[in-house]
Amino acid sequence: MAGALVCCCLTLRLARTPLLAAGSFHPGSPITSSLRVVPAATDPVSYKTMSQSPSVREFQPSEWRAYKELRLRALADSPDAFGSTLAIEQDRSDAQWAESLATASASSFDLPLAAFVGTRPVGLAWAKADATGSLTIHLFQMWVAPEHRSRGLGRSLLSTAVQWARDRGAKTMLLSVTCGDTSAVQLYASAGFQPVGIPRPLRPGSLLQAQNMKLEFHGRGA
Ligand SMILES: CC(C)(COP(=O)(O)OP(=O)(O)OC[C@H]1O[C@@H](n2cnc3c(N)ncnc32)[C@H](O)[C@@H]1OP(=O)(O)O)[C@@H](O)C(=O)NCCC(=O)NCCS
Repeated sequence: MAGALVCCCLTLRLARTPLLAAGSFHPGSPITSSLRVVPAATDPVSYKTMSQSPSVREFQPSEWRAYKELRLRALADSPDAFGSTLAIEQDRSDAQWAESLATASASSFDLPLAAFVGTRPVGLAWAKADATGSLTIHLFQMWVAPEHRSRGLGRSLLSTAVQWARDRGAKTMLLSVTCGDTSAVQLYASAGFQPVGIPRPLRPGSLLQAQNMKLEFHGRGA
């Protein structure tokens, strides 16, 4: 099940099912609010009690503090996984954090996802439709708290974003991942993402390389 795909600096173990990315962006558009219900992908995760059961759903605008906390923790924990930096994002005001989620909630172009264990947010990802209105969905900000990794939450976040992309008729999902034999690369490859183009610096001046990866949807239900 696991072939080998060598791509520049990447060695990907190809596997099983299809699926997502890094990077950063700051949505900026209108505000209003309507809570969308996103069906959580349900991969099996073994937690001891129902109160600890995992779930994935869209962040609500009122949860901007939790989003801010998770995102800053992600940047501190995994500085080499994202195009943005802790220093940059720490400079954002609370109003900007709140506006990010309010804007996303009002937009049909954004899906800010939170992974929970019980009621505690422990992971995030952000899917965003291409600003040109094309049928391309970008995936950013994927992160799961270290103490909750390898239990299926990353895959659930990715599956939920992929399902959202499929449901809106997208043709392609794109992400960028830091080159290396990492969990992120394994996750994306096992979900069917393929490297596209040549690796480029993670951010200007970085010695780290990031590889774009793409998942093509071949019709609904594919
Ligand atoms: C990448 C990340 C989100 C995965 O989250 P997770 O909850 O641990 O992932 P899951 O438990 O759902 O595992 C999904 C897949 O990831 C890969 N994976 C997970 N843990 C792994 C490990 N320790 N070693 C190798 N691959 C691993 C596997 O392919 C796994 O699929 P499998 O369980 O069918 O073998 C998490 O490791 C993380 O936050 N990493 C740091 C931030 C980062 O790199 N983000 C990506 C930005 S592009």
